[in-house]
Amino acid sequence: MAAGGDLFGSVCAQCHGPQGQGNEQLKAPSIAGRPAWYVMQQLRNFRMGRRGSHPSDAQGLLMAPIAKQLSDEQIKAVARKVESMPQITPQMTAALQSPDIEEGKFLFTERCMECHRYNASGELTFGSPPLTGLQDWYLLAQIDKFKTGMRGVDPSDPYGTKMKLSSQFIESDQSKHDVVAFILSLNPPAGHSADAAADGAVKVAEGNSNGPQNAAR
Ligand code: HEC
Ligand code: HEC
Repeated sequence: MAAGGDLFGSVCAQCHGPQGQGNEQLKAPSIAGRPAWYVMQQLRNFRMGRRGSHPSDAQGLLMAPIAKQLSDEQIKAVARKVESMPQITPQMTAALQSPDIEEGKFLFTERCMECHRYNASGELTFGSPPLTGLQDWYLLAQIDKFKTGMRGVDPSDPYGTKMKLSSQFIESDQSKHDVVAFILSLNPPAGHSADAAADGAVKVAEGNSNGPQNAAR
């Protein structure tokens, strides 16, 4: 396989789209602008079977074989490429069922903010990623995966296991929809990131540009 940008265009774009915008049919999330440290963390997790090895995890099983073909060098290069792509503001979809954003805000403040930060921009030192830039259907699915033991169950995975514990505080289906709707509301207005892209100098959406998540390792 080729490196960096070439690799993204020839391999990743097939499922994550040429702009890294994701593909709802395949349930492949938008990854554009995700911090390089987090992309590396996840590609390594998929490669070593911490993620994407549960027999019921159809999407993880689609992603894992790709990661298993990547060398350390390729993981680094493609992670830098992903980080350099402008983050795309997701639109709410029909996946969200009668969410109560105020309830979601309450839950987020109580149970999520300490690791993912008040604006969901993530925190490198905790290994907790930004939650902005991700589609509602993907967020809902990942919460389910943590809760049901498809993700975050490998005892050698400090970050996944932390998040699995936290997912238990999302006690009902309703609160899951509430908190995801609130997370969506933290995104910059749509169109914003397109402007940023046109600007050329701005790598990721505003509110995300000073965070530690930009520190590639
Ligand atoms: C065959 C389709 C497919 C290809 C090709 C593919 N992916 Fe994925 N990827 C997925 C799916 C589906 C998921 C969602 C997995 C889940 O639900 O846990 C995913 C998840 C991810 C995640 C986790 C995102 C997050 O927020 O945790 C990263 C990072 C990622 N892919 C990066 C890449 C990169 C980089 C490439 C190219 C080297 C690539 N993918 C190629 C289908 C694909
Ligand atoms: C104790 C710290 C901590 C708390 C509290 C926490 N998280 Fe997380 N979260 C993490 C970490 C660490 C990860 C990365 C897991 C990994 O590497 O697989 C994560 C990952 C996630 C993901 C997956 C993102 C992706 O790109 O796939 C979602 C969704 C998420 N958290 C939502 C939440 C929600 C909602 C709450 C509040 C109910 C919450 N988290 C509370 C630490 C935390």
